Amino acid sequence: MRIKHEAFEKNSILLLIGILIVVSIGGLIEIAPLFFLENTIEKVKGMRPYTPLELAGRNVYLREGCYTCHSQMIRSLRDEVERYGHYSLAAESMYDHPFQWGSKRTGPDLARVGNKYSDEWHTQHLINPRALVPESIMPGYPFLAKTPLRLAGMEGHLIANQRVGVPYTDEMVKSAGTDLQAQVDFFSDDYDAFLERYPDANVRDFDGNPEMISELDALIAYLQVLGTFVDFSVYNPEENLR
Ligand code: HEC
Repeated sequence: MRIKHEAFEKNSILLLIGILIVVSIGGLIEIAPLFFLENTIEKVKGMRPYTPLELAGRNVYLREGCYTCHSQMIRSLRDEVERYGHYSLAAESMYDHPFQWGSKRTGPDLARVGNKYSDEWHTQHLINPRALVPESIMPGYPFLAKTPLRLAGMEGHLIANQRVGVPYTDEMVKSAGTDLQAQVDFFSDDYDAFLERYPDANVRDFDGNPEMISELDALIAYLQVLGTFVDFSVYNPEENLR
């Protein structure tokens, strides 16, 4: 055995090949099962796909690069949990394509910003952050309130998400346009059908201007649901272990 080992010690190429073989066995054992396990992401009650309006708001969030300053992932460290709330669960970003965990926090984490402030607060803050937080270095986005949301082609965004595994039904895709409008209008004919498709969704005018569905409406609708799907007052991690 000692003689054989000497071969590795004296020949660096042989040693390199030996290392590669051993490391790849380790890698296979660690990584390969994750591709076959169905429960890599443990299921959690309450998760639902974004409504068309929220999805449109998420697109605005991506377009404006909000993720360059804001993360959406609360780590399981005491200071983070005390500041932002329950640490993020994998399931909470299961319908995010791509996920918005981020790696940079110039501003605070937004994973649980939903329901933290009023719509009016977000409206004022996004138009001019310094109106509410005098020392803020966040840029203002006043044009969002003035820009009508592009309603055409919403089906396409749902289909794209459907293809990567978000459980949008064909009915949801077909009614994407009317569902988007129903979320900002209590009196729309689609109101009941919309809430049936997306239980507990917020229905209201988000930016304070009922005359127009603006990009700001969509962005606030999105911000107001972040981290609110799972009810942590009844969440029990043991229940999810199978
Ligand atoms: C240049 C970095 C930067 C960018 C880009 C940025 N923010 Fe911020 N954001 C901040 C900072 C800093 C704060 C903390 C001060 C404040 O509240 O204004 C903040 C605060 C916030 C808050 C309040 C969070 C809390 O819990 O108090 C929200 C909501 C928010 N930003 C949303 C957004 C959205 C949406 C976008 C994209 C349209 C965006 N931000 C883009 C830096 C940024």
